[in-house]
Amino acid sequence: MSGAILKAEGVGRSFGSLRVLDGLELEASPGEFLGIIGRSGTGKSTLLGILGTHDLEFEGRLELDGRDVKSSTPAGLASMRRDILGYVFQDFHLLPELTALENAILPAVFSGRDAESARNSAIDVMDQLGVRIDSTPTAMLSRGERQRVAVARGLVNRPGVLLADEPSASLDDDNENILFDMLDGLRRRQGFTLIAVVHSRAVLSRADRVLELREGRLRPAERNVPPEGGSAP
Ligand SMILES: Nc1ncnc2c1ncn2[C@@H]1O[C@H](COP(=O)(O)OP(=O)(O)O)[C@@H](O)[C@H]1O
Ligand SMILES: [Mg+2]
Repeated sequence: MSGAILKAEGVGRSFGSLRVLDGLELEASPGEFLGIIGRSGTGKSTLLGILGTHDLEFEGRLELDGRDVKSSTPAGLASMRRDILGYVFQDFHLLPELTALENAILPAVFSGRDAESARNSAIDVMDQLGVRIDSTPTAMLSRGERQRVAVARGLVNRPGVLLADEPSASLDDDNENILFDMLDGLRRRQGFTLIAVVHSRAVLSRADRVLELREGRLRPAERNVPPEGGSAP
């Protein structure tokens, strides 16, 4: 065993005749911050969908905390999603009519935790992120606040790995940097592995490693070259 929290070996994924991932290798250590870059359409979201166990139609092997994903039972997969993985999506995927707390608590409730422990975890992480706990529907919050709610929701089950797919896609570099300030601080305190698709050079300079997705594989990125493409404005 390598001690990796996440390990992908020979991962391939095609959509019809489109070969998106091909022989991809990745190992992430506990607590590591991995930045992923790559032009638009190279398969970054496809990769995060596989790492997050949303997409099981891939070739090759994926291990999360030493457990093989493909050979897992539905109950095993559910427990990996609950105990190992957290997600922050590009467009947040929050429920607009619920409050920040109600949104943040959802993964804890879905994972079957008792109401009080779920609530305490959500309040704790919201506190750390400076998210107000009141009765305002999430739809009424500012974009920055909604983003922090999305981060709180991603961390409520204390995941070993937080997957973030362009969590700052519609923000400028300054605001992306502010978001990653928070994420990085939480990572240092809680010790989760952060695997994030990012654009700004300031953010990438915080990462322990930056990998570029190209021609279906990940390779160490040239740190001096500005990242290309993506959906930055
Ligand atoms: N479910 C799908 N069905 C068909 N094609 C897809 C699907 N998901 C992604 N693709 C295609 O795979 C390629 C990679 O997409 P994506 O992973 O979203 O790239 P990125 O996140 O790097 O911009 C694109 O050409 C996209 O159109
Ligand atoms: Mg994408």
